[in-house]
Amino acid sequence: MATAQRTGRTLPRDLPKLAVRIRRCTLCDLHASRTHAVPGEGPEDAAMVLVGEAPGREEDRAGRPFCGAAGKILEEALVRAGIRRERTFITNTVKCRPPENRKPRPAEMTACRAYLVAQLGAVRPRVIVALGQTAVRDLLGPAASLRKFRGRWKAFANIPVLPTYHPAAILYNRRLFRKLVADLRKARLRAEAA
Ligand code: URA
Repeated sequence: MATAQRTGRTLPRDLPKLAVRIRRCTLCDLHASRTHAVPGEGPEDAAMVLVGEAPGREEDRAGRPFCGAAGKILEEALVRAGIRRERTFITNTVKCRPPENRKPRPAEMTACRAYLVAQLGAVRPRVIVALGQTAVRDLLGPAASLRKFRGRWKAFANIPVLPTYHPAAILYNRRLFRKLVADLRKARLRAEAA
């Protein structure tokens, strides 16, 4: 299977060039139905990287991560946690919208994974926040479980990873919001202390 790593060309080491490669990517079938690929956004010197699942309808239209309903919740939670969105780098496990908002398939995640790894290599954040089960598995392995790991520090390539709820989960269970904010605050404190 084609992956971002195995196309014969190494990936660029800076975010703008990576974004160009991602926008042109045809490594999996998701490219055929996308409007825009969504590489992610934020400064290269961000202390915190937030990793979601995949772009939804709004993100596919706009080419920006977390700009729909889940994005509103994420922004609210970031404010409560004392984090400025524009100081974080926000991206997803897969950069193109899966049709009907289904979960990304393992082959799609495998194809896209090197882009995430390259983005993390470019930013070298102090902490990563994994938003939801898909990001948790992508970063911590197929056996990783959000239920078991939520709020507990793990690591990806020596970078601390904090698994927490996906903001969309709060749309179905508002009581999780408090825990999402607590986890984001915990991640901020670790980023500030590092
Ligand atoms: N959900 C995600 O996981 N990522 C986005 O960018 C938007 C919604």
